[in-house]
Amino acid sequence: MHLAKCAALAATLLLASTAGRAATLTISCGSVGQETKECQDESKVWAAKTGNTVKVLGAPQSDTERLALYQQYLAAGSADIDIYEIDVIWPGVLGSHLADLTGKIDPATISAHFPSIIANNTVGGKLLALPFFTDAGVLYYRRDLLEQYGFKPPATWADLETAAKAVQEKERAAGRTDMQGFVWQGKAYEGLTVNALEWVASSQGGAIVDTDGKVTVNNLNAAKALDRAAGWVGTISPKGVLNYTEEEGRGVFQSGNAVFMRNWPYAWSLGQSEGSPVRGKVGVSALPAGDGGTSAAVLGGWQLAVSKYSKNQDAAVDLVKYLCSEELQKDRAIHFSQNPTMGALYKDADVLKANPFYGDLYDVFTHTVARPSRVAGPRYAQLSSAFEATVHDVISNGGGATDKLATLQKTLDRLSRNGHW
Ligand code: GLC
Repeated sequence: MHLAKCAALAATLLLASTAGRAATLTISCGSVGQETKECQDESKVWAAKTGNTVKVLGAPQSDTERLALYQQYLAAGSADIDIYEIDVIWPGVLGSHLADLTGKIDPATISAHFPSIIANNTVGGKLLALPFFTDAGVLYYRRDLLEQYGFKPPATWADLETAAKAVQEKERAAGRTDMQGFVWQGKAYEGLTVNALEWVASSQGGAIVDTDGKVTVNNLNAAKALDRAAGWVGTISPKGVLNYTEEEGRGVFQSGNAVFMRNWPYAWSLGQSEGSPVRGKVGVSALPAGDGGTSAAVLGGWQLAVSKYSKNQDAAVDLVKYLCSEELQKDRAIHFSQNPTMGALYKDADVLKANPFYGDLYDVFTHTVARPSRVAGPRYAQLSSAFEATVHDVISNGGGATDKLATLQKTLDRLSRNGHW
């Protein structure tokens, strides 16, 4: 009884003290698709509820530029940003600057999320971020055009090539001269690492580095997969793809000028939005399989982390909890097709109605290929930058992957001290 009274008193005092000092928080969110607006609207609701203020800082669209910006703030120990939305591959890279959320989030909340993402966000026993949404690469196709020309959604990359080439030619001959076969993310940035890993992993070429840390990228299947993609540039894909991030490809596809697009689930809601030229004409499937391989979707996704240098730790944790809650994840799935990180929401009727492909692709979402960020830890960004530079060289110069991967192997062996990351 006595203890309970004390606790109640402490809670009242805490309330009184925090009520007196409303916090102003700054959160940096993404800016791909509708992310900035989404983050602003959601934060405003929390601010109104709690009497605090939230400023939303946009971030560069390119994942790689965004990491560089965050590293600048964090390396300087800046208190200017309280909450960072971080990529699934960054806990090891940014971890030393992030607050440990263990003990600040109740266990039931933590266990509602996919355990694999919680494990990913836990480094050295510290929970560094709460899952915000998850991602997996998918293939978008023009259902109307495939039906018109007698094609099925492609099961293999070879099928995709055949359909892309044929539909592109026929559409162009019919006067739609801007039609492209296949758009994807070919700029030299993190998105290219993802795309290339999907080509390689689906062709039995491994995942660049294995889970023990050994660099495995220099193999024949990987070389073939990259050379195959080099053959797309200037044939079924525009040369401009070499400079595309997610949004450039989406622009082409959504305006009706591509048969296929590799992208993340967020592109679905935009494609289906009112006024979209492709509304009602799009299908979503698993990515194609390579020779002798099986379809591979790379795991992506975003987490919210509190900076160690934030002067508003408690308020920041509270906003993170709110933004990662089931209620908001459901809302983001319905309105922005951002995949929830809670299994239960994939059975929710409203979520499934807004995203019919969530049902068919549940297995794809739960059997993704991870980039080697856990094993490489703080060195992941260098690993990825070496890989994407090599891939960009291959796809910009018509192939030659065998020699280029041999050189990359040496670079990565050096970076990893022969697999001892
Ligand atoms: C998406 C993914 C992220 C990935 C990025 C690459 O935002 O969620 O994990 O690194 O795309 O461009």
